[in-house]
Amino acid sequence: MKKVITYGTFDLLHYGHVNLLQRAKEFGDYLIVALSTDEFNWQEKQKVCYFNFEERKRLLEAIRYVDLVIPENCWEQKVNDVKEFRVDTFVIGDDWEGKFDFLKSYCEVIYLPRTPEISTTQIKENLKNKGRG
Ligand code: CTP
Repeated sequence: MKKVITYGTFDLLHYGHVNLLQRAKEFGDYLIVALSTDEFNWQEKQKVCYFNFEERKRLLEAIRYVDLVIPENCWEQKVNDVKEFRVDTFVIGDDWEGKFDFLKSYCEVIYLPRTPEISTTQIKENLKNKGRG
């Protein structure tokens, strides 16, 4: 069985996320999503999520392409995850192009083109602007 892993926050789940997950799953038979915890988002990315970790996890688990959701607690866990779950392929959007090439010693590394014109940040901005209208 070929295993794929991806990492992210996946707040306000949108079609850009679904496209990423669908394409990630096509690289194997089993897709693991390492989902950033609320603490990690705040401490490392200064992001406050609309949906908390458990809510984001439930949404991802309801997606047919996702087989397992694990927490992402720190940047350094990737090598361990790849070894522990016997991952064959690491997939992430190309906003991270080149950033995880060090994983190539452990598995295949693929950067996928992002879906244009949608992001969690964009959704939040649009809602804010509507409120002003
Ligand atoms: N992603 C994508 N296409 C988009 C938005 C996200 O392929 N339009 C991918 C990212 O490249 C990443 C994964 O989905 O591999 C999770 O991204 P995340 O950062 O959680 O979502 P964003 O919408 O980019 O959130 P933000 O605006 O907060 O950065």
